[in-house]
Amino acid sequence: MKRRLACIGLLFAVVDLAFADPDMAAARKRRAESPHGPMLERILPPGFEPRQLPQPESRGAQLTMRYCVQCHNLPNPAMHHAAKWPAIVERMVLRMQGRGNMGTLMSEMMAGVEAPSGPEAHALLAYLARNAQKPLDVQKYPEVNRPSGEAFRLACQQCHVLPDPQRHTATQWPAVVARMQENMEWMNRVTGTRPVQGEPQLRVEDINAFLAKYAKKAPR
Ligand code: HEC
Ligand code: HEC
Repeated sequence: MKRRLACIGLLFAVVDLAFADPDMAAARKRRAESPHGPMLERILPPGFEPRQLPQPESRGAQLTMRYCVQCHNLPNPAMHHAAKWPAIVERMVLRMQGRGNMGTLMSEMMAGVEAPSGPEAHALLAYLARNAQKPLDVQKYPEVNRPSGEAFRLACQQCHVLPDPQRHTATQWPAVVARMQENMEWMNRVTGTRPVQGEPQLRVEDINAFLAKYAKKAPR
């Protein structure tokens, strides 16, 4: 009986491996077992799913899913503008090769981490750049530097460039802004910062008003 249970357990484990994304499962396990797991967990927010990647079947998306979830949650190509990605990918590839990981601090958890080949890294970068964030053009939206643009300017350039308001419609923006608020709470805990007295507070209504004013027109 015991043996049979063990067999069933094994069967479930095999089924689990076959159906769950094996790369992501291994990465999650590595994070769970590492003393640095909590730190790595906070680098990028959870919730961005493989199926949300642009052209999920493309080579670039497949490479992102394979290599970029080994230490932290899945990165969204739209998080950064194209000019920002080369330096990030270069830094990440070094880490995957076992270099630049704060000396021996993280070396034990880097065991089993795979690095992309030269051509793979190239394809990865091209994919991220192609699906990158479009930065806001200050010439087009000078209001961003006026007091009425301040809430948006201060809050939304902490982790990436200011996004082009034309990316979403006025009805879509509030949900994106709400998600960014969650991202802020998640990622701030990496550094353990707490709101300090006198620090500007997040003014969500002002941010949404600014974005709505310049948002993409909804199709009628
Ligand atoms: C070997 C572990 C490891 C792998 C694999 C890895 N990263 Fe990272 N990543 C880190 C660490 C550690 C940080 C935090 C320190 C830093 O920013 O360098 C980080 C931070 C980031 C950040 C947030 C920093 C920023 O500038 O916005 C992004 C985005 C990112 N990685 C993207 C990627 C992409 C894309 C890949 C796949 C090409 C990848 N990572 C693969 C370890 C890794
Ligand atoms: C704490 C860091 C952080 C801050 C601050 C931040 N973002 Fe983001 N942003 C992210 C991350 C991480 C992603 C990728 C994951 C995602 O889409 O949630 C992202 C992606 C985006 C994207 C591309 C994805 C999409 O759905 O269009 C837009 C646009 C964006 N942010 C707008 C904003 C706006 C507007 C603000 C200010 C309210 C803001 N961000 C503040 C971290 C941040």
